[in-house]
Amino acid sequence: MTIPMACDAPAPVSRGRCALAWVITGAAAVAVRSVRFHRIERFARWLMRLTRRSAGAVEIEIMLATIDRAGRWLPVRVACLERSLAVAPGDTMTASYPLVAQAADLIDYDSYVLEPDGSMLPQSSARSGILRMLRLLEVEPGMRVLEVGAGSGYTSALLGQIVGERGTVTSLDVAHHLVARAARKHAERGARNVAVYPADGFGGWETGAPYDRIIGWTTPHVLPHSWVRQVRDQAVIVTPVKVAPIANANMILRVDIQHRRPIARDVHLGGYIEMHAEVITDFPVPVRYLDGLLRLPQGVVWVSAPELRAQPDLTDRAVRLIATGRAVASPLAGKHPRAVGACHAYLLASRPEGLASAGIGDHWGLGVVHSDSAAVLRHTDLHVAGTAGAEDQLCALLSEWEDAGRPDHTSLEPHLTAGPDGFGVNLKRR
Ligand SMILES: C[S@@+](CC[C@H](N)C(=O)[O-])C[C@H]1O[C@@H](n2cnc3c(N)ncnc32)[C@H](O)[C@@H]1O
Repeated sequence: MTIPMACDAPAPVSRGRCALAWVITGAAAVAVRSVRFHRIERFARWLMRLTRRSAGAVEIEIMLATIDRAGRWLPVRVACLERSLAVAPGDTMTASYPLVAQAADLIDYDSYVLEPDGSMLPQSSARSGILRMLRLLEVEPGMRVLEVGAGSGYTSALLGQIVGERGTVTSLDVAHHLVARAARKHAERGARNVAVYPADGFGGWETGAPYDRIIGWTTPHVLPHSWVRQVRDQAVIVTPVKVAPIANANMILRVDIQHRRPIARDVHLGGYIEMHAEVITDFPVPVRYLDGLLRLPQGVVWVSAPELRAQPDLTDRAVRLIATGRAVASPLAGKHPRAVGACHAYLLASRPEGLASAGIGDHWGLGVVHSDSAAVLRHTDLHVAGTAGAEDQLCALLSEWEDAGRPDHTSLEPHLTAGPDGFGVNLKRR
């Protein structure tokens, strides 16, 4: 069966750019044969600068992934290459970058995330995302770090390795069994500078303050006031956070503390499980900003639609409508997965009328939801329902994003607004 194509097909990726990317890829593959880690790092830095001027974000991402893959076949320090190039467009290469890669070389990921039966602990995060976030944090030896969301313990092990004997890592998790598991793993490795406590990390951990760095592996709805109070001046906080009152509207935020005030520096694509005072077990259903939910034999259907929020009869109608919808081919089909994230970020910064998210089974999307029509862009497809209104509106926005050169998160500026629990975050286009 052929599925109908939604929106107009996007402009093809420029051949010239692709050719350039492949030429550089080849050159990189040859160059890395004989250089050591710090040279690879410097080379990657140069490559990023060069290509950012001449290729689009998605092309760079594809190129880096290709170099990464090519590295596996070369007689070089492959692990270093893999990690040194696990960068995304807009990622800042920092002085702590080799430290993260070295720690990742020393700590065995599987020993933390795998259960005795070989299955993966559900609360484990993908290693590439972890390394990306750690680089943003700029952790150095001797620092005091607070981590919220211990999960498997892998990230606290990396942090403990980076800060060394003179530094400390305090890690929190609401799940007591994970705290005990992570603490046991650290003890087995003899990591004495990492302590894990059962606590709701939204309040931070006063006892160990002031911290040089705070990192969140779970998404709060705002940047908590407690975190800003518990760090010293010049500290850095990196955390996923909500950038709109919409379920799954998450991005990674880097904040610098200057003169005791938080300065939102930049945002990156990504997000982690919601921060909640109780352990979450129903993973596909959002905890916060959930407006409508249907549990059907084929899976859950939910909607998070701020503009319908005050009218329960309309959200109820919307979720039922979404359940009857169909998947059509996405105009981003076949593109790099991060293109969908970049497009979501653009929508969040544009805040069009009816901006909403919806989940159908295991896949969720961001788009436009009205009471009589819905269209959300998922990683796999476009889910549409009802009349054509929402689909037309979303397709117009996708064309706008294409015409603007498919801007990614680097084109967005985060803004903080103080509220009762913390600083709300919203995005503006630069
Ligand atoms: C994505 S996992 C963390 C992954 C982890 N850093 C690793 O190395 O695998 C997110 C964790 O945050 C925890 N969490 C959720 N809400 C929390 C809260 N309010 N305070 C502390 N931890 C929380 C969850 O229990 C879960 O273990």
